Amino acid sequence: MTNASSNLTRAAQMIADARSVVILTGAGVSAESGLATFRDPEEGHWSKYDPMQLATLDAFNADPELVTRWYHWRFTRARDVQPNPGHFAIGALQKHKTEQGQSLTLITQNVDGLHQRAGATSVVELHGSIYTWRCTKTQEECSIRELSFETVPIPSEHGGLMRPSVVWFGERIRYRQWSQSFTAVRNCDLFISVGTSGTVEPAASYLRDAKGHGAATLEINRDPTPNTGIVDVALQGPSGRILPLILSELGIESNQ
Ligand code: OAD
Repeated sequence: MTNASSNLTRAAQMIADARSVVILTGAGVSAESGLATFRDPEEGHWSKYDPMQLATLDAFNADPELVTRWYHWRFTRARDVQPNPGHFAIGALQKHKTEQGQSLTLITQNVDGLHQRAGATSVVELHGSIYTWRCTKTQEECSIRELSFETVPIPSEHGGLMRPSVVWFGERIRYRQWSQSFTAVRNCDLFISVGTSGTVEPAASYLRDAKGHGAATLEINRDPTPNTGIVDVALQGPSGRILPLILSELGIESNQ
């Protein structure tokens, strides 16, 4: 057995043994759908644009047209691509665990809605959703489908502007998402990190936190991350290939 295939078998066994699983995903899980990650040196958003000019409240206040257009562009990209086999594998695994009377909490830093389109439920969207926008004055939310982007920025009915309901740098994670993920991370017996560079808090600390509370840890990533050296098993490669392989080791059919 090669190292890679024995690690795959170990990963599958860890998942089979766990009663309470947390999966944390980042932009890497959507890369094979055709969405750019943030920190890829060539294709990543932050290799082309300055996050401080696009993903902060100050940036929005300084140039609401630019920020609105960028998030609307990201929405159209997310809407027009399809979930990939990695998303479907996670959806199928969650369904399987639930049917076994066990739990799988999916926490994502992604705002693209692809997990839900691949069957995942109760997704904890830590950084919000690009599908939901809100008024800067009242915080009242609406679906992006109710908005017209013909004139931007978009005035709200209450004298504010409509902004994406995502968490920008310098903003707090919403209490509900924060507390759901905190509880799940503290109580899981297996923590799986998929396609995240593990560099943005609070998600960056979740793996260490889970480990500190006795959980087994698994990482699936194309490249090494700050967590690679501390996890029980690290599987290196694209999540859209590795996750389906794990599922087939477990004899679970993906609902793609
Ligand atoms: P990053 O761009 O920081 O990291 C993506 C990770 O996915 C990297 O470790 C890649 O090596 C890995 N990767 C790329 N393609 C992959 C593939 N096909 N399969 C598996 N892994 C792959 O994205 P995040 O970690 O999600 O926040 O970034 C976290 C936050 O920083 C984002 O939510 C966003 C960003 O700034 C805000 O905008 C507030």
